[in-house]
Amino acid sequence: MNALIVKGNIIYTKEMEQFEVFENSYLVSVDGKVVGIYKALPDAYSDMPIEDYGNRLIIPGFVDLHVHAPQYLQMGLGMNKQLLEWLTEYTFELEKKFKDLNFAQKAYEYFAEDLVASGTLRACVYATSSTAATEILFEILKEKGIGAYIGKVNMERNAPNSILESMEDSLEGTKYLIGKYKDEKLVKPILTPRFAPSCTQELLGELGKIANDYDVPVQSHLSETKREVEWVRELFPDAKNYLDLYGRSGLLKNAIMAHAIYLEEEEMMEAKERDVILIHCPDSNINLRSGIMPVREYLNRGLKITLGSDVAGGHRLAMNEAMVRAIQLSKLINIQSPEVEPLRVSEAFYMGTKAGGAFFGKTGSFEEGYFLDALVIEDHPLVAKLYSIEERLEKFLYTGNSQNICARYVEGKQI
Ligand code: GUN
Ligand code: FE
Repeated sequence: MNALIVKGNIIYTKEMEQFEVFENSYLVSVDGKVVGIYKALPDAYSDMPIEDYGNRLIIPGFVDLHVHAPQYLQMGLGMNKQLLEWLTEYTFELEKKFKDLNFAQKAYEYFAEDLVASGTLRACVYATSSTAATEILFEILKEKGIGAYIGKVNMERNAPNSILESMEDSLEGTKYLIGKYKDEKLVKPILTPRFAPSCTQELLGELGKIANDYDVPVQSHLSETKREVEWVRELFPDAKNYLDLYGRSGLLKNAIMAHAIYLEEEEMMEAKERDVILIHCPDSNINLRSGIMPVREYLNRGLKITLGSDVAGGHRLAMNEAMVRAIQLSKLINIQSPEVEPLRVSEAFYMGTKAGGAFFGKTGSFEEGYFLDALVIEDHPLVAKLYSIEERLEKFLYTGNSQNICARYVEGKQI
């Protein structure tokens, strides 16, 4: 039997509203999947080695559903700009450099190192339009042992020529990466039309066909700023709305969409009907002054809301920071509109673990049958003595960092 037993203070969310807490207990997994949490270890496992983490916390690994790997170098820069100027003045200039594969290798290693250190064990990642550099990113994240979807970015207009491709080249590179990595266990391809303004209707349609033919998921940006929404209306006058443009291109069968701040009534209905996963990127909402996703309203409507760092719209990779910022933004909304309840800690935690984890199958929780993706958290002994498990987790989310993470497991294997 290929078992892993970790012992400590286990805490996770099964539902948004509350934490499940198992003090000083055994978390048992077989073949990478959780079989149960026990106060006393059942006889069947008594011969198995135990990794005893004492009074430390054991929590599900963080899930970042929206992050741009090349932009890691640009974090914290150009934060006085808004989206479209920021893309032109900083982002596109940096992404050009990834055609140099030496540069890409070094930059992506730097990114991957920090991603894993920060406790992100599953991520949906944008690379650049360079197929060869994207291949490098696949190899680096495979080596790290975390779970990821990686997208070569499809873009054929409205950016400097050096990062644009013809539709044919863009599709060919995309298919090449699908062929090479589709059957990987942990690191897989995802279709990544950058956002509607980077594409023509024809390119979107061709990508929709690939999504269907190869059964590959899709990630993109949706309704991040008012100017962008207006631009999309001008570029695609026939579409009912922004989401419909992706929908009628065949891109919403298994899709995750970042931002979704300014959705119309019909778009909310369509997102729900088609099970589109929406990604709240709170740091990016603030930094680029894009707006604030109305998270509570979306949750009340039954939409699927997850979390993303959106580095480098966001300036931090660590998903505990994204959780805290989501709570803080919800409090700003609550100050303006007291009837709108702010997010609880458990809700933000759920969004950054189980809700996002669902995109990768059963991960992000410690319920039976879930993959054991876990972080072991060490806090100060005085804090550990004074406070409950739930309070200690809250404190780690608000004040902790990679230095508090002393072990990481993906599918029951330490990485
Ligand atoms: N929209 C199109 N490209 C980007 C990007 O790189 N970052 C963000 N935040 N929004 C985008
Ligand atoms: Fe983004």
